[in-house]
Amino acid sequence: MFEGLRQLPQDPILQLMQMYRDDNRPGKVDLGIGVYKDDAGNTPIMASVHEAERRLLEGETTKSYVGPAGSAGFNEVMARLVLGDDSSLIRDGRASVIQTPGGCGALRMAAEFFRLCQPDTTVWVSTPTWANHLPLLGGAGLRIREYAYLDRETLTVDFPAMLESLESAKAGDVVLLHGCCHNPSGADLSADQWQAVTQLIQRKGLLPFVDMAYQGLGQGLDQDAAGLRYLAGQVPEMVVAASCSKNFGLYRERTGALMLISATPAINTAATSQLLSVVRSHYSMPPAHGAAIVETILGDDQLRAGWQSELGGMCERILGLRHAFAGALAPAGDFGFIARQRGMFSFLGITPEQVRQLREEHGIYMLESSRVNVAGLNDRVLPGVASAIRSVM
Ligand code: LMR
Repeated sequence: MFEGLRQLPQDPILQLMQMYRDDNRPGKVDLGIGVYKDDAGNTPIMASVHEAERRLLEGETTKSYVGPAGSAGFNEVMARLVLGDDSSLIRDGRASVIQTPGGCGALRMAAEFFRLCQPDTTVWVSTPTWANHLPLLGGAGLRIREYAYLDRETLTVDFPAMLESLESAKAGDVVLLHGCCHNPSGADLSADQWQAVTQLIQRKGLLPFVDMAYQGLGQGLDQDAAGLRYLAGQVPEMVVAASCSKNFGLYRERTGALMLISATPAINTAATSQLLSVVRSHYSMPPAHGAAIVETILGDDQLRAGWQSELGGMCERILGLRHAFAGALAPAGDFGFIARQRGMFSFLGITPEQVRQLREEHGIYMLESSRVNVAGLNDRVLPGVASAIRSVM
């Protein structure tokens, strides 16, 4: 059965992570995979996470199954984190959340759910989008179409082009939007643009699907969710995939959530039961540990305050790096967009050949598209990275 299989190339982001690990040069710099790094270049466990784990270890009494929806307590705190504490959607029973194995698990279960609702669903993704969106959604059998998003010259949102391409979407099509910190470009929609996209979605009868993987790392927890919350308040139905990988630093614990918003509580109950049967036939139930950490932190005022202050510090650090990086690159051109963009990623706008040169000659790793993880910089390496980039340009 296996002998006809050809060897596949590795996923480019994971391949770059491996290349970086295999590089023995002491001065190497990793601006590749999207994980937060501190000033020392480490991806630390947050203090609030450590404390929650300590409490869990002491208080845990069973490892029995939780069920396909995961922990009800986690689902409740995630609904509030994403939609806000005073959300009428939660109060009115129009929103339900299930715990998933990471944001990827949420994206894939959403895709399987769309196929169940409507087997020939088309989902529109931004050009560019996170590379793994394509196999996660396409692998469920959905048809993928792309909408224009980024102006390749200015590396900012080309909003008229975005609206124009979404005019071709048909009623019932799904539109995938990045909640904040657009991956890979760092270019987010403004409040006005969220409103205009919402109008288009309503007018054309599209289903909005928001990937919220970086809440809290752009401008703050509530600010980052403002566009999503506005949209959620206007439409009858919506789907959100949320990740706790970055804002809780739980990457390997695979902690995420999938939210369905429906027109009425009765529709939502029925839709959620269908979603749970999809889950049962895929991985049966999500892993418990990461979600228990999040539930512990968000359910305890003191831990929550500590976590928010740690997350705020990470966000500030990225913003500071963005300004310093844009300044250090300035002699080579206008990189002011890096300072204006949000989250971990921005494109440098250099060629794959220049990216290769940076990796081979300077030990600086970034995606071939020139996407850099700004959080991988620090005061020690930033001047050298900027001068290497200037030298290849
Ligand atoms: C990234 O884009 O680098 C992250 O989301 C990590 C991943 O799994 O690709």
